[in-house]
Amino acid sequence: MTPASLAAASTPHVPGHVVDAQDAALAFDPASYTPITVTIDGQPVNLRYYKEICYVADPVAAAPQQPGLGGTTTIQNTRCGYESMNVFVPESAFGDQRAPIYFAVNNGGWMASYIRPSITEGASYSSATSNVGAALKAGYVLVDVANRSRGLVGADGSSPGKAPAAAVDAKAAVRYLRLNDAAMPGSAERIVVNGTSGGGALASILGASGNDREYDPYLAAIGAAGIDAAGRSTLRDDVFAVDAYCPITDLGNADTAYEWLYTVLGTRDATGQNPQPADAATIAAKFAAYENGLGLRNPDGSPLTAATMLDTIKKEVVRSAETYLRADPARTIPALGEDFVITSPGPGGGTTTSYVNDWLDVDNAADTVRAVDMTNYLKFVATQQALKTTPAFDAVGVHGNTTSGTETNLFGPSTRTYMNYTEFGWDHNDVAGDGSGLDDTGLTWKQYTARKSTTVDDQVHLIDPMDFIGSTAADTAPNWYVRAGTRDRDTSFTVSINLDRALAADPQVRDVNYQLAWNQPHAGNYDVPEAMAWIAKVVGKAGNPPAAGNLP
Ligand code: DHB
Repeated sequence: MTPASLAAASTPHVPGHVVDAQDAALAFDPASYTPITVTIDGQPVNLRYYKEICYVADPVAAAPQQPGLGGTTTIQNTRCGYESMNVFVPESAFGDQRAPIYFAVNNGGWMASYIRPSITEGASYSSATSNVGAALKAGYVLVDVANRSRGLVGADGSSPGKAPAAAVDAKAAVRYLRLNDAAMPGSAERIVVNGTSGGGALASILGASGNDREYDPYLAAIGAAGIDAAGRSTLRDDVFAVDAYCPITDLGNADTAYEWLYTVLGTRDATGQNPQPADAATIAAKFAAYENGLGLRNPDGSPLTAATMLDTIKKEVVRSAETYLRADPARTIPALGEDFVITSPGPGGGTTTSYVNDWLDVDNAADTVRAVDMTNYLKFVATQQALKTTPAFDAVGVHGNTTSGTETNLFGPSTRTYMNYTEFGWDHNDVAGDGSGLDDTGLTWKQYTARKSTTVDDQVHLIDPMDFIGSTAADTAPNWYVRAGTRDRDTSFTVSINLDRALAADPQVRDVNYQLAWNQPHAGNYDVPEAMAWIAKVVGKAGNPPAAGNLP
């Protein structure tokens, strides 16, 4: 529907930015919306819905049949369904150039994310439990972003979603918002990126790597906004804030971190989940050099090393439990010998299981933790949900494994289904003809990645926020809210702890709000009022954004 009063399409306008033909093709049309009405906290709210905006000039064509997570899906928008975004403007933000933009990424499972229906006419939200409802109620412009990633099948049968495609697409979407900032409600200087798990990882790399020139060739290839004829960037893609849950990130080191965590106190053995003990030990043995090499410090200034990591995790668990207790006087945590009663989501209300508390000694009257038994804590984590295999993240091709769904297919050339991206995976690949490993290349991982022509180590690098936080080549977001659950076994607790410590050490970062979320599994957006209060705080502190423009 196109109201007559808004019929004139706008031209993008960013002061100092030369609009070339490609950018002109990416102009936002303020009139091209559908009015819809939703209910938030029982009140009707009118929205302007800008549907499936293709945010690049040269999208990658997708095959109509996509394997996806839950079986094959037939998609309608083969032209740009993986590089589009839905924009929702609540009535309180009509004509408001200063409203924050709540930028939701998907990337669940690190899988390609087709444009989702997002918000539909008549939908009903509670702002206490729905981040979508809360963002709209707060008057934020909501942008729901699709992206290429692993699993995507191109129209030519190739795999065009390999790393760093997801990060490149997210940057392209940010650049679209910057190009069109004057024509769109909301401020591209107040983009808050929200994502969970694979999405938390995507939010983190987007937030960490702002304006880094390493992405320019990839951005040029998809016709992203603000890339000139010489392939140089003329627009910025840094963001204001990141709101990330359980980020599955630092993939190049995730296996090492995982095996270290679940072997250092014997968790795999104690829970009967150590089918590859020699591999687990070999992979875990690399953790100390990796962790110590990061050179990170804890908030009290003490070095964060492999030797201090267990104590660091323990302190984070204590802080998590005490924060939970102190937030509400009515809250208690089961005493030693009592049960943790955990309901996991599922059909018909899910399943409820009880686990005896043999690890956390809490004083509910004082809202304090007396002691944590780390051995039993990790056993609890690994019992309430089974551990991943060894290796956890780069398992395809290893010891003849051709079936695993781990992140191995996020890497390699688009002509290959997968490529090992860790030293262990590569050096233990024995699937002939898959292009990975000594058997196919005649090269060990060290020899292979020493070659300048190798792309797989670049792919790992370009989706790892740890490589960009603290780097002067990148403009890292100044504000970060990061959560991982105390029951999350999908990646090692060290991943989000390292992310937090690296952010805290980056002079570009002003506000880092990190915690393990008490008794949460691998999940996100469970703390909507708290997360939204933090966003409102950092937005308020920053003051009014400048007028739309390409700021220095
Ligand atoms: C997600 C979960 C994983 O265990 C993983 O390895 C990658 C992504 C997710 O939930 O998005």
